[in-house]
Formats: sequence, structure tokens, C-alpha cells
Amino acid sequence: MAELEKPRLGVAMIGHAFMGRVHSQAWRSASRFFDLPMEPRMRVLVGRDAQRSKQAAQRLGWVESATDWRRVLERKDVDLIDICTPGDTHAEIAEAALAAGKHVLVEKPMANSVAEAQRMNDTAHRARAQGVHAMVGFTYRRVPALKLAQELIAEGRIGEVRQVRAQYLQDWLGDETAPLSWRLDKTRAGSGALGDIGAHIVDLTYFLTGQRFAGVSGMLDTIVAERPLAAKVAVAAGGIGGSGGGLGGGLGTAVEEPGAVGMGPVTVDDAALVTARLTSGAPVILEASRFAWGRKNALRIEISGSRGAVSFDFEDMNVLHYYDATQPARTSGFTRILATEPEHPYLESWWPPGHGLGYEHGFTHQVVDLVRGIAAGEDPRPSFEDGLHVQRVLEAIQHSSGASHQWTEIHDQERS
Ligand SMILES: NC(=O)c1ccc[n+]([C@@H]2O[C@H](COP(=O)([O-])OP(=O)(O)OC[C@H]3O[C@@H](n4cnc5c(N)ncnc54)[C@H](O)[C@@H]3O)[C@@H](O)[C@H]2O)c1
Repeated sequence: MAELEKPRLGVAMIGHAFMGRVHSQAWRSASRFFDLPMEPRMRVLVGRDAQRSKQAAQRLGWVESATDWRRVLERKDVDLIDICTPGDTHAEIAEAALAAGKHVLVEKPMANSVAEAQRMNDTAHRARAQGVHAMVGFTYRRVPALKLAQELIAEGRIGEVRQVRAQYLQDWLGDETAPLSWRLDKTRAGSGALGDIGAHIVDLTYFLTGQRFAGVSGMLDTIVAERPLAAKVAVAAGGIGGSGGGLGGGLGTAVEEPGAVGMGPVTVDDAALVTARLTSGAPVILEASRFAWGRKNALRIEISGSRGAVSFDFEDMNVLHYYDATQPARTSGFTRILATEPEHPYLESWWPPGHGLGYEHGFTHQVVDLVRGIAAGEDPRPSFEDGLHVQRVLEAIQHSSGASHQWTEIHDQERS
């Protein structure tokens, strides 16, 4: 009975391919595993095609489907808009939703440019004064082993942060016959490997160290300049029943033209190589690539401090390696921490120790933190302010790459 007395949070989600499927899983599971102060209700799923949206809604657990997100913003039973569409739509939908008094969860990267992100942040700032909250979907912050790393660093367990090395490696573009998709179109995605996966390691560096970026030098490279246009039939594969939806699989919203043939240009980077400094001066090296054969989702980050280090690889996502440099050399070495104990972040609600978590759990934790934040009247992190910082870093890398890798400073204007 107590469940029924909780205030309800009506949710509408836009987009139902890769992220739409995993976000649906998160909305379905969050209140069944965690004690939430509000009860999410999956009211309506929005897509562009009526029939596909209806099928997706039925399969993914949404009460209704719709094709016009603007009409959905008028509904009184919808309190939150979850944006799971490509980057070129984020600013328009998020700003309209916040102005309509709806809380917003927007997928990363927050926008396709700093100008858009700045506008979104301004809108979120005004909305906050009305009790309306906004969050960016940098999901990896909610992987228990990475949250544990953040806690250890904040506790001083590695001392002062001295150096960060991070990589995000995938290989789904290694095959040069892999077709074009919106991810390879600058007007839709904003950038390539940089914004798609590099954004995650920029945000994680910021999250784990608690420090923003002060400056960057970047090199972006497009390795395969043109690719086959995909036929419309490939488009549907990213939706319901697809083999996974997203990336190289169904390629989601690959091509808008039915029966498209021939080749088209790749207008984004395939790989991003970056050197940077944090505000403390600590050096950072970042690499994002979708051409790293055999690396399927290798998000790796290692942070070395004055008295130890942490090291993580998403391909072994339940594990954090911790090195305590104060231990005697004779027996020292990285400790492999299996972050599945009830004492570890988010684990109190899951399985017995050793019964590991997977990709989707980070998204469930994201919903948990979002709902708790809304109920507490706080913007959960990463806020739009955080998303704006990441956007500034991405844009500075693009600028640097276009200017012979020139060192490019990042200036955040903090709100008071
Ligand atoms: N947090 C993460 O780890 C993560 C992982 C993958 C993707 N993403 C982000 O999620 C977003 C979506 O990526 P995806 O992989 O789900 O893409 P996708 O191609 O698999 O799905 C995109 C969905 O958006 C819909 N769509 C496209 N344009 C639309 C419009 N104008 N109006 C309404 N619906 C529209 C498509 O029909 C499709 O359902 C992107 O911003 C991407 O960067 C985040």
C-alpha cells in the first residue's frame, strides 16, 4: 500500500532505439530494486513513425505512443521528458520541455555546440527556480566500480591527482564497408568519436578528479572518408526486436532515404587524440576511437596520484584496481576489488557478492539518482552546468585540431 501513496512521476521518452531500449529498462526496474521517493510511470513513448512507435511502446512497457513530442509537452500527466534522440534534437526538445515545466533527462553529449549547451544551461537555470530539474546522461558515473573510484579519490586514498590517462575504444567502424549513419554526419552528431565516446572520458575525468579541464591540444582524424549509404531496411534494425539497436548493429536511424544507394561522405572524426591539463595543472591524455579492432567497449581510465592509483576497464566493469603506494614494495601491487559487496555504491539493492552487474544497471542507477534529486528539489549531477563544461572541452579540442593542435584554453564562466 505504501507504494501507492508515493507521488507519481509521469515520464515521456523520445526515441526508442539503442538508448530508448536501455532507458526503458531503467524506468521499468528502478523502483522495483530501489526505494524511491516517487513512483515513475512510463506514460508515453514518442517516435517518428506511428506504427513502429506503437510496437516499441508495447514491447518496452510504455502505456501509450505518440509521434509529436510538442503535443506531449502539453500533457498534465507527464512530469519528465527523457530525450534519447541524436544530438541535433537535444537543445530544441530540452529547452521546450523545461519551458513547459517538465523535468529533463537528456542523453550525452548534451548538445552539438557550446552555443546550444549555453542556451540549455540558461533555460535549466531559470527552470530550477520553478522547481524543475535537468540532468545529462553521462551514465558511466553510475557504474559501481567507477563511483567507488571517485569516492576513494575524494577520500585522499591516492593522494593528490598527478596524471590521468583515459581511452574509449570501440571497433564497429573498422570495417570500411560499414554504412553511414547519423553518427557519421556532423550536422546530426556534432562530432564523431570525440562527442560519441570521447565525451564520456572527458566527463569521467572531471567526475573522478573533481577538477575541470583548463586547456587542451587535440588531433582529430577521419580515417575512412566515405562509406556506403544504407538502404531503409537497415534503419528499422535499431528499433524493437533489433539485434541490439545502435552503433554498428542496426545503425539506428541510418539513412532517411528509402532504398539509398552509392557512397556518402563521413563528415566527423573517426579518432580523437588529446593532451590536456586539469585546473591543478595535472596532465591528461585521452584517446577515443571506433577503429580499435577487438575493443568492443573498452572505456579505460587510470589515475595516478601522489600515494596511489586507480585503474578501470569497462570490459571488466565490476572490477576496480587500486594501488596503495604507501605499502611496502615487497608485497605491494594493484588490488583487484570486485565491486559487488553491499558496501559498494548502489550494490545494497542488487545481488549477493560476486553476482555481477551489467551495462544496463548504470542506467537504472541514473534513474534512481534523478528521481531522488527531483524529490529533494536538487539538480542531480551531471547537471546542465556540468554538460556545458564537457561541451566546452569538446569544442576546444575541435578548435585545436583545426589550428595545427594549438593549445586551447577553456574558460568556464561559473554562475554565482
Ligand atoms: N549514455 C550512453 O552511454 C550512450 C550510449 C549510446 C548513445 N547515447 C546517446 O543517446 C542518443 C541517442 O543515441 P542512440 O544510440 O539511441 O541512437 P539510435 O539511432 O539508436 O536511436 C535514435 C532514436 O531517435 C529517434 N529520432 C531521431 N530523430 C528524431 C527526431 N527528430 N524526433 C524524434 N525522434 C527521433 C529515432 O527514430 C530512434 O528511435 C545520442 O545522443 C547518443 O549520443 C548515449
